[in-house]
Amino acid sequence: MDARPLVIDAAYSLSEASTDAEREAHATPERWRLPVPHYLTEVYTWAYVAPYVRRVFDHQWVVAQILWYQDKKLMRNVLDEIAPGDRVYMPASVYGEFCIDMAQKAAPGPVTISDISTIQLYGLRKKRRAFNLKNLFIRRANAADPIKGPYDVALSFLLLHEVPEDYKAAIVNGLLDQVDIGGKAVFVDYHKMKWWQPLWPIMAFVAWWLEPFTFPLWKNEIADYASADRRAKFEWKKTTSFGGLYQHVVAVRKQP
Ligand SMILES: C[S@@+](CC[C@H](N)C(=O)[O-])C[C@H]1O[C@@H](n2cnc3c(N)ncnc32)[C@H](O)[C@@H]1O
Repeated sequence: MDARPLVIDAAYSLSEASTDAEREAHATPERWRLPVPHYLTEVYTWAYVAPYVRRVFDHQWVVAQILWYQDKKLMRNVLDEIAPGDRVYMPASVYGEFCIDMAQKAAPGPVTISDISTIQLYGLRKKRRAFNLKNLFIRRANAADPIKGPYDVALSFLLLHEVPEDYKAAIVNGLLDQVDIGGKAVFVDYHKMKWWQPLWPIMAFVAWWLEPFTFPLWKNEIADYASADRRAKFEWKKTTSFGGLYQHVVAVRKQP
């Protein structure tokens, strides 16, 4: 079994960085000093960085409203991909009960969740304590430079539509690199709606107003953010739901 990353995990030189994702993900070798990416403070302080965000958003009923009550279905579909004992990784936290459910489903397998926002890490630690999630490991990391695996399941849940294009590519490629042979990467995100989806104008307005990095996911396949050599090492399957608003992509790593 060769589960080694496709890219050799060599010490990274900042002078090699050509994109924001590379510069910000590798800014210092000590992860605790990693800066919050520029796009996150510029576009998403109100949602993920400001001190009040957990009080406002970190409730399942709020997540349900944001996701038009599709939250349980989207999350259940992901939990169905996880078997007890699996090694699971998610490079960005999710509000509500999802992180708790995931840790409980994978137990006793280790579930690693990383995030770059201090308040999100604080919220995760509170959940770990409150629900006694001994198999949940919480790390500070930029999703563009994920915590090293290998994992049975590496999961990006509604993250890609919130990040610029260079980040999308870095996250997709970085996650694929951490998947063990036979394991899978799972991407849940927004998608181009069918013309008849009545929420079309509302969601287009929300994307334009609050989530500008969403639009490329309406025309690009998530698989196309992977480099050709990585893409070929996985079996890809995409399903959409709720009039095409959401996509669920599973990439299973083939035997070499
Ligand atoms: C997964 S996304 C959105 C999930 C969903 N909207 C919810 O209900 O929470 C939100 C998380 O991504 C984190 N995040 C965004 N960009 C990141 C990056 N480059 N590295 C690590 N975490 C990031 C934010 O701090 C936030 O906690």
